[in-house]
Amino acid sequence: MSRTRVNNFSISLDGFGTGEGQSAEAPFGHAGDRLHQWMFATHWWHGPGGSGGVDDALAQRFEPGIGAEIMGANKFGYPGWHEDPAWKGPWGPNPPFHTPVFVLTHHTRPSIEMEGGTTFHFIDASPAEALATAREAARGQDVRIGGGPTVVRDFLAAGLVDHLHAVVVPIVLGRGVRLWDGLEGIDTQYEVEATSTPSGVTHVTFTRPGV
Ligand SMILES: NC(=O)c1ccc[n+]([C@@H]2O[C@H](COP(=O)([O-])OP(=O)(O)OC[C@H]3O[C@@H](n4cnc5c(N)ncnc54)[C@H](OP(=O)(O)O)[C@@H]3O)[C@@H](O)[C@H]2O)c1
Repeated sequence: MSRTRVNNFSISLDGFGTGEGQSAEAPFGHAGDRLHQWMFATHWWHGPGGSGGVDDALAQRFEPGIGAEIMGANKFGYPGWHEDPAWKGPWGPNPPFHTPVFVLTHHTRPSIEMEGGTTFHFIDASPAEALATAREAARGQDVRIGGGPTVVRDFLAAGLVDHLHAVVVPIVLGRGVRLWDGLEGIDTQYEVEATSTPSGVTHVTFTRPGV
């Protein structure tokens, strides 16, 4: 069965998935890289010399079984990227997705084929429509909702997420885009587990019963 998953999604203690003031120089705004320090330290990200504990074991679940990703326009680029016809995202010629990626945006453009199996498709569609399109492209594999927080929140609100792996980082951002706004009681729809690790983060998983 093809599931809809969110993996390695980092939030601050006060629930922000990105800071305020996103720009080309600061993709996470005033949060800088503080939301992902836990991940950069893992073997999965860092390679040799990276940590091999629970953070690493969970981070590694990002890729296996994924056949397509859906992301928001603000993850794909800085505010105003759509005015730059040459913009291909911030990841360089070989983005770390290696699948079709559907970018939700009101500023659609032709698809872009990248190295390594990633093709960006730009679609203006509801979450349910986008998921149907991505699921077809995933050919029976899972679909990852890659963020940012606005898009993950919209898919949660629409009841479309089967498994969410959020990583609560012990920092207080105070401003930015929050994941949980408007989602009161969403936890009651899932089996919820939490595991704190020596790095100081807490991995929280929401899994839809029976999935
Ligand atoms: N914490 C993490 O682990 C994590 C993971 C990934 C990304 N991020 C960060 O999150 C930030 C981006 O998050 P965000 O919440 O600001 O924005 P986002 O979720 O990336 O994108 C939201 C935007 O996508 C477009 N969009 C969304 N739904 C749409 C729909 N149904 N139809 C058409 N267009 C739609 C709209 O942009 P337009 O109207 O402009 O087209 C909307 O403003 C970045 O800083 C990124 O680096 C964090």
